[in-house]
This record gives sequence, structure tokens and C-alpha cells, in this order.
Amino acid sequence: MADQHLPPGDAACSQNGKTLVGKIERRNLLLGMGGLYGATTLATNPLALAKPISPDFSECTTAKEPGGSTTINCCPPRSGTEITDFVASATQAYERKPAHDASETYIQQYSKAITKMKSLNLTDPRNFYQQANVHCVYCDEGYPQSGYPSQKIDVHNCWFFFPWHRMYLYFFERICKNLLDDDTFTLPFWQWDDPSGMVMPGLMYNDTTLSLYDCLRDPNHLPPTVIDLAFSRKDRMKPPIAPNIQVNYNLSTMYTQMITQSPTPQKFFGKPLRAGDEPDPGEGSIESMPHNGVHLWTGNPAQPNREDMGALYSGGRDPIFYAHHGNIDRMWYIYNNVLKGKNITDGDWLNSSFIFYNEEAKPVRVKIQDSLDITTLGYTYPDLTLEWKKYKPNPRRKGIALPPSPKVGDVFPTPLSKTISVLVDRPKKSRSKKEKDEAEETLEIQGIKFNKREFVKFDVYVNEDDPSLSGPDKTEFLGSFINLVHGHSMNATTNKEFALNKVLEELGADDSGKILVTLVPQSGDVTITGIQISYDTSKF
Ligand code: C2O
Repeated sequence: MADQHLPPGDAACSQNGKTLVGKIERRNLLLGMGGLYGATTLATNPLALAKPISPDFSECTTAKEPGGSTTINCCPPRSGTEITDFVASATQAYERKPAHDASETYIQQYSKAITKMKSLNLTDPRNFYQQANVHCVYCDEGYPQSGYPSQKIDVHNCWFFFPWHRMYLYFFERICKNLLDDDTFTLPFWQWDDPSGMVMPGLMYNDTTLSLYDCLRDPNHLPPTVIDLAFSRKDRMKPPIAPNIQVNYNLSTMYTQMITQSPTPQKFFGKPLRAGDEPDPGEGSIESMPHNGVHLWTGNPAQPNREDMGALYSGGRDPIFYAHHGNIDRMWYIYNNVLKGKNITDGDWLNSSFIFYNEEAKPVRVKIQDSLDITTLGYTYPDLTLEWKKYKPNPRRKGIALPPSPKVGDVFPTPLSKTISVLVDRPKKSRSKKEKDEAEETLEIQGIKFNKREFVKFDVYVNEDDPSLSGPDKTEFLGSFINLVHGHSMNATTNKEFALNKVLEELGADDSGKILVTLVPQSGDVTITGIQISYDTSKF
């Protein structure tokens, strides 16, 4: 049996002579793996063809580097008895608040909650590092799927990204409330989508004696450094961008990701993952950016994977994670309530379930459908001004003559080792308004093969023959594929989709039978099988 994974931060923090965060003695980590549940966790399946996912909670496995000796064990201690079904019980909804506006009293309260979580026994699943491991185990394919023992679960890079993290934060918040004995307590959110919140929130870094501090953050990214929502490893090498330009880029990125690239539930949430499927069908708009960018930007460059925040297995060890994901969750709230975006209605999504530990340290099964209405979960978000709604990117040029370029079949499949431009055929041009309303023309980058152990990023442009002249504030820049390091070696194959309806209209390319697609590698090794245009009807 492997040791439970140590927070790597602790050694690094003490070496630097800085505050030791959550020091854990190694002997405490040799946790028993006994006490298996008597009952199996197989979901009863009323519809023969329905394929909702649920984890086999009794079969948590450690992750191993293929051929290597490094093991990551994020499996929770086996506490609790039977798994009960979640029942939303909130009688009142309390507002979550922006972290950069936090009062002194609030900061002290939140820090106290984290201190209490850190001092719980390590065999208690409410312990702060055990909570971090809950995130790790659901990112590092720790659980097999019920009924499909050879298929593992990863809640990233698929349609579970938003709801899984909503419920994860919900239980984390409940644990805080419980330990503080204060039902009015709510988690803060890091409002990185607004200029006022585009620096590391003071509550997280100002006072190194507080439990909210984590020494494993990028020391060059403390205020007044403006965050780069699209940050990639390579960006460290580039000359710094003037703060006001960075703010504008961020606002354009927010517009692109929340509006242009989120016209359908599938684009916003990510692609379906049903029982029996391979993990990693495809990430939604926000998961790619700013979610991944904020993680990477925050983590420490001296660590192999910019831990803590730069990798998924370690992200939850930094209290800033919960403020970052508060704002991710707020984006879902905004998508529903301000932008009037629809949720997925597919029964396989609604009936999929995950298991968390509640404030009584008992395992609880939650269905996705239980996560849709946050007021039943006891919290809400303030309706703040959304500055980014005014930052729609503009075309660099309109109606360009496409330069001679190879066709998709001449180039793919190929490793993406240099910039590649191809002409992609559109099955239909000049579609009517009705056709466009019913189906989002979609650029699909297919069969992206990569290693989840590696940070991977490539950028995608349409009708742009000189990407160096483009940028986040230009319509031609569709966005990026980004993989944040999970924790260990896992080869994955995924797809990446971009919405084209609005983009092609704005570029004056709607009546053209072909578009020029350019892929620019930024980081990591990927191979791509092909590119094609399809139609996303997930709005209906
Ligand atoms: Cu589960 Cu921000 O990642």
C-alpha cells in the first residue's frame, strides 16, 4: 500500500524559511485502507439505455506513473459508514462576497475556518488536506466508474466540470460553517473577471501568519501585477505587457469565453461523458480559459508543475483555490441568470452522481440535478456590473482573400510541432438565420493526443495568416486548448470545439465555402488527428 500523498509544498516552504503551511508528519499519513463499505455502490438504473456516471467508491486506487515508481495516493480515509443520498436542506441563501472587498473580521473568520480544518486529525475527511485530496482523486482518475471497472473518472475536460466543482465547494463551505458554528459564513470569490479583482486578493497573501497564505505561489505575481487570464508557461519569457493592456486583454477574453464561445450548453459546459466512456471528451469554454490560466498564473514557478495551484492534484492545497472556483461557479450563475444560457437537459448529465464528505464527515451521494439551483444550497451571488460585456473583440480584417494553403487531408494526422495553417471545407455556407439559431457551426479539432502529466497549450485562429498581429481582442483569435497538469502520467485523447456562427459573420466570411484555420503550439507535445466543421444542436 502506498503512502498517502504528501503536500509537496511543506518541504519547499520550510526550505525557503517561510511560513510552514500545514505541516504533516509522515507517520500520520500511513493511513489504514481497511473498513470497506459493506454495501456496493452500484447505481440502480431504471432506464436500460441511460448511462449516468457514478464512482465506485469502494475501489479507490492510487495513481502510478507507467513504468515509473512515483505514486500519488489521494484516496480518502475510509471513515463513515453508509453512503446516504444528498438532500438540499438550506432554509436561507447567504451571499458569497468578492475576496478583494473582504473586511478584517471576515478575513479572520475564514482563516479560522481553514486553521480548524488543518488541525483536524488526518483520518478525518474534513481535514483540509483530505479535502484537497477529494479534488485530487476526482482529477487523477482515482475512482473507477460503477459498473465499468476499467473506465476511470476525471471530472475535468467534460460536462461535469461546473457541477462537480459546485458541489465540492458546497461541502467545503458547509464544513467551514460547521467548524465556525456560523451558518451565515460563505466562501469568498476571486473576482478576476473585473478590473478591481485582477490581482491576487489581499486576503490570500497579505498576512503570512494566516492560514489563507500558501508559500507555493508565484512571488512575481503579487499585487500590483495584473493577472493574465490566458497565462501559459511560455508567457513568463515574454516581455511584460502594460497593466492597462493586460486588463483590456482579460476583459476581451471574458467576452469571448462567456459570450462568443458559449452559445450552446455543450460549448459552455463541455462534452458529454457517459458511463463506459473514456474520460476527456472535451473541455467547455470557461474551463479552458480563464480557469486553467488562473491556476497556472497563481502557482509557484520553482515547483515542477507550478504547484500548488498550477496542477490539479495539488490545487486544493492552496486556500486560494476555493476563491478561484467561487468565481468559476459565479460564471455559471451569470451564464444562467444574466446571459440566459440554458443548462444541459440530458438525463445522463442530470442523473450522474458523485460522492463527497459532508460536515459530519459522512459520505453523501449527490446528483448533478441537485446542483442546479444554488439557493437550495444556501448561497447566492451579488449582481455586480459586468464590465467585460462591453469588450467585444473586433476583426483585424474583414473578408480577406484566403492565401493558398494545404487541405486538412494533406496535413493531418500530425504532431503539432510548428504553426500549421489549413483550409477547412464548410459543408454549408450562407445559412439562414433559422438554421443558425438551430445549430451552431462548430470548428472541431479532433483526436488531440496528449499526456495529462504535461502542461499543454495551443492557440487557434480563423482567417488569420499572421497570428503575431492578432490577440485576445481580435475576432480572428478563437481561443486555446489547454491541459493543466493532473498529477501523473495518463495518455488522453480529446477534442476541442469552437463556436463559429458569430465569428464568421463578423469576419465577413459567411458566404465562403472554406475557412483558413491556424494552430499555433505554445507548450507541450500534442498530435492532432483532424479538423472538421460540424453542427452543435445542444441548445434544443
Ligand atoms: Cu478541478 Cu480548478 O480544478
